[in-house]
Amino acid sequence: MFESMLMAPSDPILGLSTIFRNDIRKKKINLGIGVYINEHNEAPILESVKHAEDFLLKKEMNKNYLNIEGIHAFNNATQSLLFGQDESIISKERIRTVQAPGGTGALRIISECIAKHFNIYFGRKQRIWISDPTWVNHKNIFIASGLELHTYPYYNQYKHALDFEKFLDTLNCSVKATDIVLLHCCCHNPTGIDPTIEQWKILSENSEKNGWIPLFDLAYQGFDTDLKNDLQGLHIFCKHNSELIVCNSYSKNFGLYNERVGACTIIAQNNDHAERALSQLKSTIRANYSNPPAHGASIVSTILTNPILYSIWENELKCMREHIKNMRFLLIQNLNHNNQHNKPNFDFITNQKGMFAYMDLNSNQVTKLRKNSGIYLVDSGRINLAGLSKQNIQYVCESIRDLF
Ligand code: LMR
Repeated sequence: MFESMLMAPSDPILGLSTIFRNDIRKKKINLGIGVYINEHNEAPILESVKHAEDFLLKKEMNKNYLNIEGIHAFNNATQSLLFGQDESIISKERIRTVQAPGGTGALRIISECIAKHFNIYFGRKQRIWISDPTWVNHKNIFIASGLELHTYPYYNQYKHALDFEKFLDTLNCSVKATDIVLLHCCCHNPTGIDPTIEQWKILSENSEKNGWIPLFDLAYQGFDTDLKNDLQGLHIFCKHNSELIVCNSYSKNFGLYNERVGACTIIAQNNDHAERALSQLKSTIRANYSNPPAHGASIVSTILTNPILYSIWENELKCMREHIKNMRFLLIQNLNHNNQHNKPNFDFITNQKGMFAYMDLNSNQVTKLRKNSGIYLVDSGRINLAGLSKQNIQYVCESIRDLF
């Protein structure tokens, strides 16, 4: 049977890490996958996480199955992190959250649930719009879920900025009522370019007027300004829109990459709609992985509900954010150092936010960096800033400058 299968292409991000591991050169640098590396060249386990694990080890009484929707304390803590403790942003009865195996798992279950229901309801494939460019796995997830995939223009390569006019034009002319539009809540992956507050307001009004449903992908909360400010776009939408979806990941901001912790939160028009949507999400989960794993989500809910651990975590997140910002600054400084007139200027990276620098390098240049210098970045020319260090930054910048 299996002889009829063709070889699947290697994953552009995770596959790259495998190629990197197999590279026997001593001087090699992985700037591909979005993992936080500290100044000691380690992907650290946060102190807040270690404390929570100590506590859980002592307290844990059984290894019983979780509910289909996951740990209630975790789901409630997720809602509080997203929308605040009080009901000023969103009334609790309109909101439901399910735990998911990572942000990817959250996106997968909501999109499968939507496809399962609306492909029959509308008698055609439900459409989803993703930004061009976007995180490479979005396409895989939504196609595998059975949605019809479309892209909206997002990035102006010449101006190194958001192409808001074209984006809006697509929303007005091509996106239909009830279509899903995927928005990156903050720190757009891979471009690092987010809408301004004014633009978020226009988007939210557009959604309300034209009836498309916003699906927020939130993987980098806390990596731009802070936990609350990074949600400004989402909160603007909450004021205007009666329905929205948020898929958030705790991989980056808790450094819990291999624990697979995330959540899917839906906001509906009222309690009854929310309850029905929850029941469909649960049935999708049951048919996929039955119920989620406990450990990672227990860590997150322990930290989010304990004021001391919360403040340790908030501070650790701040340190990660500042280290990445520092690396962005050093990258620009080193790239522009002694720059000759005929070489490109990389000042545009200053305006980008989050973990990545979107470098405007083509795939030939990316391949050259990998082959000639042992520097690995994803084909789009995205650099994981946290992979840079004071030790390797000069070498990286020289290698990049040599490409021109
Ligand atoms: C990335 O964009 O590098 C991360 O989100 C890791 C992944 O799963 O692709």
